[in-house]
Amino acid sequence: MADNRVLVVGGGGREHALCLGLNKSPDVAQIFCCPGNAGTQIVAENVKISTTDVESIVEFCLTNAVDLVVVGPEAPLCLSLADRLIDKNIPCFGPVAALAELEGSKLHAKQVMNSVGVPTASYKILDDHTDIELALDGYQDNPWVIKRDVLAGGKGVVVTNDRFEAMTFINESIFMDGRVILEEFLPGEEASMLVVMDGSGYVCLPPSQDHKRAYDGDNGPNTGGMGAYCPAPIVDQSVFDKTKQRIIEPMFQYLSNLPVPYRGVLYVGLMINDSGDPYVVEFNVRFGDPECQVTLPLIKTDLFALLNKSANDELSTLSPEFYDAHAITIVLASEGYPANPVKNRVIHGIGQQNTSTEMNSAWVNHAGTKFEQNQLISSGGRVLSCSSMAASLVEAVELAYQLIGSITLEGSHYRSDIGGKALDQSGS
Ligand code: AMP
Ligand code: GLY
Repeated sequence: MADNRVLVVGGGGREHALCLGLNKSPDVAQIFCCPGNAGTQIVAENVKISTTDVESIVEFCLTNAVDLVVVGPEAPLCLSLADRLIDKNIPCFGPVAALAELEGSKLHAKQVMNSVGVPTASYKILDDHTDIELALDGYQDNPWVIKRDVLAGGKGVVVTNDRFEAMTFINESIFMDGRVILEEFLPGEEASMLVVMDGSGYVCLPPSQDHKRAYDGDNGPNTGGMGAYCPAPIVDQSVFDKTKQRIIEPMFQYLSNLPVPYRGVLYVGLMINDSGDPYVVEFNVRFGDPECQVTLPLIKTDLFALLNKSANDELSTLSPEFYDAHAITIVLASEGYPANPVKNRVIHGIGQQNTSTEMNSAWVNHAGTKFEQNQLISSGGRVLSCSSMAASLVEAVELAYQLIGSITLEGSHYRSDIGGKALDQSGS
């Protein structure tokens, strides 16, 4: 069936990567992207609907005979987009709102993990009635980890050794949300496992690693992610097996046996300690950004087939294949990102768009970009990322840095050490 019409919801680098992946499929005739960006409009038709306007998205799907909806960000899922689409018999890649709470509420995620026996940090709920000094004393041997229990756009977590900062964040969070979570600090190294799931089975995608700090050497403020690479050597066979047995299997047993099973991708944020034991730091109910940009190119299996089967509970009929290769992406961020990004500047140096994500090549994933008067203009904090795929990580790093070096945007910055940790670990 070559005539499928797919709507991708979102407008960042992740959604551009999804559009590029779907564009390769012979079974996809038309891709729509709402709202999209200057990159998606080359392979898809951008639709001016906000990602949180659930009613308009459903209406668009009905009017335009959309066969599959692929949801990028978490917000529309928490706002019941999948529930509303299922009501209209439109397959949706992305879970129903009750299951999106795995990301929407950190407390809910903790309760699920504890009930199915998944290893994670211990925690305490703090509210107006808690003796907060006493609670801080209980976790004082390590940095304090404090998490708001709401979707906070990446600003809901503070990890600090500063008691005053901890106290201030706790008090502000209780004032805003009524409660806050104080969590045990987990030492180790982070990695991301993306698991495509449905009621019939699951597929573990190659593990990846993000770089969350703004500047080289993991310094500076936290960001949405400044770059990523895949696969991540920290997840060796032993760590992978433990993660599968201790985390993925129990979560799958739980999520696949619900009346409406989990259909979509479960992002498992791992902390791996010195003994190679994995703990869950967070769940997200979507692809990571920028992890998506380095994971999708390594999937040899038709992306439409993978996502469509998951949306229809048919994953168990798929035997996924992956390339034995390495992918990397480097984010170009606006001046002032993450605190106060300067937008609306002209981006130079992107000539003919490379819309393929093939071996030994590099391409641009657009994020905060728009076309205006025939010019490419920055419109977000993370403007674009330069991605590549090659037989070795060294070659991939070289290709992506070559590409990003040819693009200019006044005041912009990017990290020069993406992939460095993996190169150290693999000794190559
Ligand atoms: P989260 O939104 O829960 O992923 O937290 C954001 C970041 O805070 C994570 O990517 C980690 O770097 C850090 N973090 C969160 N929880 C912990 C923890 N229990 N121990 C150590 N670091 C953590
Ligand atoms: N890159 C981290 C995230 O997407 O949550």
